[in-house]
Amino acid sequence: MILSVVSGKGGVGKTFTSLNLAAILSEMGQRVLVVDTNFTSPTVATHFGVTPDTHTIDEALQKGTYNPMDLIWIHPAGFHFVTPSFNMVALDDQALHTIFEILRPLYANYDTVILDGPAGVGRDVYYTIMNSDAALIIANPNYPSLFNALKTHYFAKQLGKMVPGAVLNMYKKGTISPSEASQILELPILAVVPEDPAVKEALQKGQLLVQYKPSSPAARALYDLAEALTGRKVQKRKKSGGLGEILSKIKDWLLS
Ligand SMILES: Nc1ncnc2c1ncn2[C@@H]1O[C@H](COP(=O)(O)OP(=O)(O)OP(=O)(O)O)[C@@H](O)[C@H]1O
Ligand SMILES: [Mg+2]
Repeated sequence: MILSVVSGKGGVGKTFTSLNLAAILSEMGQRVLVVDTNFTSPTVATHFGVTPDTHTIDEALQKGTYNPMDLIWIHPAGFHFVTPSFNMVALDDQALHTIFEILRPLYANYDTVILDGPAGVGRDVYYTIMNSDAALIIANPNYPSLFNALKTHYFAKQLGKMVPGAVLNMYKKGTISPSEASQILELPILAVVPEDPAVKEALQKGQLLVQYKPSSPAARALYDLAEALTGRKVQKRKKSGGLGEILSKIKDWLLS
């Protein structure tokens, strides 16, 4: 399955969702590849403090012939990812087409490929969605985000893609409810991910939320998302501070 993660509005949590979902699916035993299709402003690698200038999508594009396996980077959470460098500038149709041709042979090695998309519904988003089987829509509980997400939903449908549902991210009390969001988006809400201070803490530490605080409210909601997408039960992490966690910390300390 090739899943594009798109939103319309920027900064709503596409990369956050893509990377944590990739980590959860890896934990479930899947082979997962994340492709950063924010070609001109990549963020996947920067999430853990790396800015590669070799083994990148633009290097492959420049060289013409390139073994796509040389593009693979391995994240500590177990999934693989592919990234552009910071040198890419606006791309024309030919370049966008060529990039996805370079990447395509890689997909057969994975159970799930996640295309972490750019904002808007421009040419780069068109190619991202076109090169996926299904589009996952990410929205925040405010009208500008929801209406741009609806536009993206229609766009993906026009391109003949499945749209299994949406993630309502950065939810908090007093904002638009999940049921109203679902009505606006004309989609089921697969997970309601609360605004959670642990997300920024994890980012500052260069870690993924599901690794840093797997029992935080936002991480638990991402486990719900993985369940909704795979139809499989994920072993949920216990609430932090519970006896199990204390015992496991003592065990780690004794073994260290
Ligand atoms: N549930 C959440 N709670 C708190 N902060 C969050 C949450 N989700 C995402 N964020 C923060 O919001 C910011 C934007 O998230 P992210 O980069 O994933 O958005 P994006 O949609 O990928 O943005 P872009 O359109 O620029 O690619 C990041 O700083 C991220 O840590
Ligand atoms: Mg992003």
